[in-house]
Amino acid sequence: MNKSTGILFIITGLLALLLGIFFGTISGLQFIFPGFFEVLPFFKSRPLHVSLVVAWIFSAAVGGIYYYLPNHCNLTLYSKRLPRIHFALFIITGLLIIASYIMGKFGGREYWEFPPLLAIPIIIGWILFGFNYFKTVVKKKEPWPVYLWMWATGIFFFLFTFSESYLWLLPYFRDNVVRELTVQWKSYGALVGSWNMLVYGTAIFVMEKLSGDTKVALSRLSFLMYLLGLTNLMFGWAHHIYIVPSAPWIRHFAYFISMTELLILAKIIWSFKSTMQQAKINFGNIPYRFMIAADVWIFINLILALLISIPAVNIYTHGTHITVAHAMGSTIGINTMILLSSCFLIIQQVSDQNFNDKSGKLIRWGFWIVNIGLLIFFISLVVAGIAKGYYTAENKLSFQEIMQKIAPVLAIFVFAGIGILVGMLMVVLPALRKLITIK
Ligand code: HEM
Repeated sequence: MNKSTGILFIITGLLALLLGIFFGTISGLQFIFPGFFEVLPFFKSRPLHVSLVVAWIFSAAVGGIYYYLPNHCNLTLYSKRLPRIHFALFIITGLLIIASYIMGKFGGREYWEFPPLLAIPIIIGWILFGFNYFKTVVKKKEPWPVYLWMWATGIFFFLFTFSESYLWLLPYFRDNVVRELTVQWKSYGALVGSWNMLVYGTAIFVMEKLSGDTKVALSRLSFLMYLLGLTNLMFGWAHHIYIVPSAPWIRHFAYFISMTELLILAKIIWSFKSTMQQAKINFGNIPYRFMIAADVWIFINLILALLISIPAVNIYTHGTHITVAHAMGSTIGINTMILLSSCFLIIQQVSDQNFNDKSGKLIRWGFWIVNIGLLIFFISLVVAGIAKGYYTAENKLSFQEIMQKIAPVLAIFVFAGIGILVGMLMVVLPALRKLITIK
């Protein structure tokens, strides 16, 4: 095993992405054909899908950090052995989680439906990662670019909120419903904030490398975005806990902060676009085009977030497919696009490959199929959500009748999901081939 651990994490992440989308497609098909693929019913295929795509996000972000620190930040990793132990723990735990879902052994909550014992190796792996990261970056004497702060914060808060999401194991929390729900939803909201820190930090890093402009990562605007992200991480969960009574202004304030953070990221990518145009780097460049796609998706997600934050609309939409559109719109459109941009930047560097060949053509086609598929996917979820919210509020139809009414829209959703799967295969398989064949 002589490949850098960063690359191994990325290969694993890409495999988790493909497998995750495959299970997502199965869950989607089960929406419209309830008896479909009975060996893996919805209660198993859904957690398999969600855990694998979340694993993709973490694995690609962590792999990028392990790769970038020694290769681009002029830093020698404090330990070269710890990342390998981290990787081994990640793989073993991942396989155990998949096996436990397939065997129907649950016991956890929400994103972590696996038996809680498996959280222990995850925590150990992150401690090793965090320890190595901090020991490595403290050696940097010059001012830290914003991405080093963002990664540091993401690592620290992941450990914190992940541990917090298991507080329900203690009787003090488990025995009081409001206390348990509040802590649980607070931790999940903050957890999303912690992975966003890792991913948005990666976005700024990638833009710095692509444009050669080192000022961006030291700019006031980037640090403002970091501070907003930090506030969002600590307090932004307020808009995740609808079921817990809280003052409306807290929720609206939380919404406002998370939208401003995204707006600034959109602005940074927009300025990066003009720097790239001046440098005559065009849309043919693969990491660049994925970053621009993330920018477009930030705007689309912002429009949806604005709409569902209007109380009159929210009454109808909360807890419908619109929430799923919001979750998948941001994890696919923003997080996945940024991380694919990072993966292709690494491939370009390690293999001197600019994808001007046949595989480049396949990736470019795949890019469009994924994005157009995602647009249809997203719109159909929103339409299904509005229809479901409307019929539920009108209270005239039973659940079955509502599901029957929205079945055609869900069929379009699944069809578009299959498009995303096909497009992703066209993008990811050539990337995997390159990464597996490099020394
Ligand atoms: C990169 C690709 C993808 C990512 C990152 C992703 C992410 C997610 C996330 C985070 C959730 C949980 C949403 C929530 O709890 O509200 C989810 C649910 C789901 N996803 Fe995906 N997804 C992806 C692709 C797909 C595809 C291609 C399909 C195919 C149809 C799909 C079908 C589903 C279904 C059916 C659910 C469950 C929705 C529900 O319970 O109502 N996903 N996905």
